[in-house]
Amino acid sequence: MGNRSNEDAVARLMAEMTLAEKIGQLNLLAAGEGLTTGAATDTPLAKRLDAGEVGAIFGTKSLASAQALQERALAGSRLSIPLFFAEDVIHGHRTVFPLPLALAASWDMALIEATAGFAAAEAAAEGLHQVYAPMIDVTRDARWGRMAESPGEDPHLAGAIAAAMTRGLQGTAPAAPGRVAACLKHFVAYGAPLSGRDYDNASLAWEDLLEIYLPPFADGVAAGAASVMAAFNAVNKLPMHAHGPLIEGWLRGRAGFDGLVVSDYTGIRELVAHGLGAPATVVLRALAAGIDMDMVGEDYLIHLPALAEAGLEAPEAGLTLSAERVRALIDRACARVLGFKAGLGLLDDPWRGLTGSPAAPDRAEGRKLARKAAARSAVLLKNDGLLPLSPDTRLALIGPLADDRANMLGTWSVSGRAEDVTPLLEAVGALAGPPPSHAAGCNLVEDDWLIERLNVHGTTVTRDPRSEANMLAEAVAAAKAADVVLVALGEAKEHAGESSSRLCPDLPAPQRRLLDALATTGTPLVVAVFAGRALALGGIEQQCGALLYAWHGGIAGPEGVADLVFGRAEPSGRLPVTLPAAPGQTPLCHAEDPTGRPWTGRFAKFRTGWLDLADDSQPYPFGFGLSYTEVSYGPPRLSATEARPGEQVSLSVTLTNTGARPAIETVQLYLSDPEARITRPARRLVAFRQVELAPGEEREVTFEIGAEMAQYPLAPSLEAAEWVRDPGRILLHVGPNSRDTLSETLTWLA
Ligand code: NOJ
Repeated sequence: MGNRSNEDAVARLMAEMTLAEKIGQLNLLAAGEGLTTGAATDTPLAKRLDAGEVGAIFGTKSLASAQALQERALAGSRLSIPLFFAEDVIHGHRTVFPLPLALAASWDMALIEATAGFAAAEAAAEGLHQVYAPMIDVTRDARWGRMAESPGEDPHLAGAIAAAMTRGLQGTAPAAPGRVAACLKHFVAYGAPLSGRDYDNASLAWEDLLEIYLPPFADGVAAGAASVMAAFNAVNKLPMHAHGPLIEGWLRGRAGFDGLVVSDYTGIRELVAHGLGAPATVVLRALAAGIDMDMVGEDYLIHLPALAEAGLEAPEAGLTLSAERVRALIDRACARVLGFKAGLGLLDDPWRGLTGSPAAPDRAEGRKLARKAAARSAVLLKNDGLLPLSPDTRLALIGPLADDRANMLGTWSVSGRAEDVTPLLEAVGALAGPPPSHAAGCNLVEDDWLIERLNVHGTTVTRDPRSEANMLAEAVAAAKAADVVLVALGEAKEHAGESSSRLCPDLPAPQRRLLDALATTGTPLVVAVFAGRALALGGIEQQCGALLYAWHGGIAGPEGVADLVFGRAEPSGRLPVTLPAAPGQTPLCHAEDPTGRPWTGRFAKFRTGWLDLADDSQPYPFGFGLSYTEVSYGPPRLSATEARPGEQVSLSVTLTNTGARPAIETVQLYLSDPEARITRPARRLVAFRQVELAPGEEREVTFEIGAEMAQYPLAPSLEAAEWVRDPGRILLHVGPNSRDTLSETLTWLA
């Protein structure tokens, strides 16, 4: 809250509130069917509103519905306390931008901020005050479906994105016109579930928690994010909805967060299934841990009145709380909810954001931004000179995603519409001279049961009734008649996202067979992969002349791809996750701790590696991506090779665009600490800079290096954690990706 007049307003209100009214403020419900103004609707939600038992609502879907709900809430609240409205606006609202993972591949913080700003303006125009974004769960496991929503594998990049998105959503303040409150989620380590299975628990070294999973939250908090959502999983045996040491301890105590913490859906009652006690016990555990609002489950509403009268003794769960203490905890949570409302301007004006707000921004402008973002997000993994294509190329467009709309939106696009997507066939057709021929070539996936699961949020995958042989024959004929084939492969929208963990994150088998068949034609292939995660692509590089990783790019995703294919935009995307060669390699990342028998880049007996992975089939490294031009890196130069803590050293590198086309180059700086008190990552990203270079242009890029860059945590427990740095040698690696770098040594003196 951090604002005196807001604090006073909250204190005045609380002094007048009954216990029941305070508990009502902690109840966060889904809009469901919503309400219509003036109608005497008697739904369970309407009854709750009449009784003043709701603090906020999510999923309203229209301004009219939010207005009707607010009217009802104000009428039902003795003290006229307004609701606030929230929604899942993950990568755009009505204007769907590329998936968060795709946007991360742009490494362009101004662009990411702009997409978040546009989404905020669309959301605010619909009466929303808060969005459940940014999702900043670092993840290194391609099996986990929510990699799609994540910023990728690296905490430094994720932290920059957390800050950029928070700035974009909130602007100068969540109450500013056209802005909304951000909600950092999911706190914490949700991206590290056992086996990549969604909702599963994370067991990890405290050092990893402190250095990999928590920093993006610290960066989002520092950027002013007004709220945080707890994660479903347990961290080191304690489920996050009961994790006082991390929520009250680290988040509020260490990171200085002073906003609102909401549960994730029924996360409070799920503590029972986690084995933390009976329903009333887990309610108190959540409240004591710092979960201020209870989403959907209504467990606070059900259990807190009695607990506030009698307190609780639950020795089996190690919990004893007096009635007085329970009431103090209810007060604490209620003050945070009201403080959040005050920060949104709702205590001054309960209709803030619901009447007289700016209209939605121009969708045509949003579409332009979405198209640019899609082109900036796609990563060119291979190009043997085939791209860009000349417009008079006779092109065959083949693949189950060649003429697709709905899947292009990507997961978690709850307000997006498939009809807003321009499919690849149309996007390419608009830029090509001769109209491209088209064949689906195969079904997206093989099994009917899988199709059914993929269609859980509406049909996006249908089965072509023709035989596979028939479809392949049509595709091969089209390929033979063309100069170049653009092959559109990948995942359905719901292959990724919540509850969409995959055992084997690779291209579905029918698509592999299609590619094999096309490769036999001899016609050059450009493969575009549309996916919501890091798919294992081993072997595909050998079959094609060019390979473009296009993710699920939103409403203008295919247009962004068409722009790249015809050279109307320059490829500049860089991988925010390592792409495994084989699915069994995951989890995988550039910042792994070295073993005593390090991987040498080839299989070697008695060394870390995989027996059944061919040496010529290697992952695409984190940070990797090609351009249509060449950028050369001169040797890095340090301003000093020794320094004392407190002194700044600079590292400079000269880049030259030696090709004939413009470059958008992302210069990456990695650090390794080869001699430390504990094993440190082989290398980790510490800084990056994006620069534009005209053909022939030379430019110097300089990074400032401070001793704090080499700090690391030692944490026998969370409470005993300390950040240390040692004198001695560090290595600084600079280059266009995490693998192809040039190194310098810097020694920190004691
Ligand atoms: C569950 C998801 O985990 C979370 O990300 C989302 O914001 C909530 N449901 C609300 O829809």
